[in-house]
Amino acid sequence: MRQFFKYIGKYKFHTIMAPLLILFEVAIETLIPTVMGKLLIDQAVNQGDMSLIIKYGLLLAGLTLIALMFGVISGRMAAVASTGFAKNLRSDMYKKIQDFSFANIDKFSTSSLVTRMTTDVMNVRQAFQMLLRITIRAPLQFITAIVASLVICPGLSKYFLYVIPFLIIGLLLIIVKAFPWFEKVFNTYDELNLVVQENVRSVREVKSYNLQDEETEKFKKVSGKVFKYHTIAEKIVALNRPIMMTCIYIVLIMIAVVGAKLTVQNVMTTGELQSIISYALQLLMSLMMISMVIVTLTISKASVDRIKEVLNEIPDIKNPDNPVNDIKDGSIEFDNVSFSYANDIERLSLKNVNITINSGETIGIIGGTGSSKSTLVQLIPRLYDVTQGTLKVGGEDVRDYDIKALRDSVAMVLQKNVLFSGTIKENLRWGKEDATDDEIIHACKLAQADEFIEGFPDNYDTYIEQGGTNVSGGQRQRLCIARALLKSPKILILDDSTSAVDTRTDSLIRKAFREDIPNVTKLIIAQRIASVEDADKVLVLDEGEVVDFGSPQELMKTSKIYKEVYDSQMKGGSIDE
Ligand SMILES: Nc1ncnc2c1ncn2[C@@H]1O[C@H](COP(=O)(O)OP(=O)(O)OP(=O)(O)O)[C@@H](O)[C@H]1O
Ligand SMILES: [Mg+2]
Repeated sequence: MRQFFKYIGKYKFHTIMAPLLILFEVAIETLIPTVMGKLLIDQAVNQGDMSLIIKYGLLLAGLTLIALMFGVISGRMAAVASTGFAKNLRSDMYKKIQDFSFANIDKFSTSSLVTRMTTDVMNVRQAFQMLLRITIRAPLQFITAIVASLVICPGLSKYFLYVIPFLIIGLLLIIVKAFPWFEKVFNTYDELNLVVQENVRSVREVKSYNLQDEETEKFKKVSGKVFKYHTIAEKIVALNRPIMMTCIYIVLIMIAVVGAKLTVQNVMTTGELQSIISYALQLLMSLMMISMVIVTLTISKASVDRIKEVLNEIPDIKNPDNPVNDIKDGSIEFDNVSFSYANDIERLSLKNVNITINSGETIGIIGGTGSSKSTLVQLIPRLYDVTQGTLKVGGEDVRDYDIKALRDSVAMVLQKNVLFSGTIKENLRWGKEDATDDEIIHACKLAQADEFIEGFPDNYDTYIEQGGTNVSGGQRQRLCIARALLKSPKILILDDSTSAVDTRTDSLIRKAFREDIPNVTKLIIAQRIASVEDADKVLVLDEGEVVDFGSPQELMKTSKIYKEVYDSQMKGGSIDE
């Protein structure tokens, strides 16, 4: 819990005031039964003095009102403090996740991160709010009620103490039994979110494959699991109430029987008996509250653990202590690089890659699907770190650069590219925040996107829907290329980024690259041989190993894979022909 204190932040005043006001509320509530018993019943009612009855009656009403007021203000303070706390916690988690590397995100899964930032934070907020109010109120009321009743009649008050051990044992049993089920509930929430997220995001695929029924079935299954675990957990927790109530009634009956005898024997007055019964109720109410708090804290413990996992996750790609900010040029050198997603040298996705790429060269990368083309290029902007060997950019190990500087110099169009909801201009400015309209248009011209953008009714202010669903696949790819170009990078990586573009446009893009950005190192991953045949060199990957590396002309003679791919594909559409 200590780790969470800092999230109170600027809500310290509210956090202190909420329990403080409760102190006053409890003090007055403790006074009320005594005023009622000693003054109203024993004095006024017994003497039959009507004006005294009215006077004490008004006093009681006044006290109740003040207690209520303290309670209301304290409630408001606790509400503000706990929502503020949740806000701070959530934004810290968000910031933390921004620093996560791809590997960190792979570890948690997106849906789990979403549950942790929403449902789990909500649970913790609720627990915190309760902590501020009831955790102070209940034990305090418990103590004051015992002390007050001991003062009035010690003989009678001892009955309170008899039931407490039973209550504690009952409560402990409930917690021990319920906690594992609550843990299960939250983990199943992750699954539920995953199903919902996948379904909603891929709603087009689901519909085109007519998978609605299967998806609904999948949802029902997970949702049923949440229902089952939650019901079991809540059923156990529900036992709390009967246990508490039984204890309350047993105590009340004992007090009533013994108290009545003592009153008849004139050991205590009717008013005192009345006060003790009120205190007994207060005491048992406070016990109910304590047990409720413990249950809520137990539930939130599962959430706290899950949140802590996120907060304590160490981003495995960190900025070095004395980072190099200047990237000299776009040269790239793989020196005996091996890489494993699982960080396990037995399961390598890339094996002993040794290649040198000069600044300004255009390199084509080909290889079958799953041959680790994407994996290879993702190492360059440090989306993942090499497992073995060294990878140098501009003559320096990539791990020595300031990450931001490196990623600004290495623009990469990911294979799974996305656009965000917003206008075309807004999307492109991701590449360069303060890009002028002219710069944007220039980049789009290079990426051969200018023409179709001009065809849109709102041109560069056309609104792109979430995920870029209102532009075609090829249009989206070209917008992503333009976005990368706006960074004015030293290295430009296109991971299968023209696969949905027709061959003519594809070769126009490459021609524009050659003429307009000759000094930028260009890495072009492609399935089409035409996309790489005018490259300076082509790199052929097979099962994570570089099998050939040379000019397209050389490879035609020496590389079996290159030749095979070449022969199997029809040549066409090159602008140079
Ligand atoms: N995030 C990941 N976690 C674990 N394994 C991965 C991950 N991404 C890719 N792999 C594995 O690494 C291998 C290489 O994948 P990669 O995406 O680099 O292939 P590729 O050559 O780009 O294929 P494609 O032509 O289909 O894009 C594959 O066996 C794949 O299963
Ligand atoms: Mg790939």
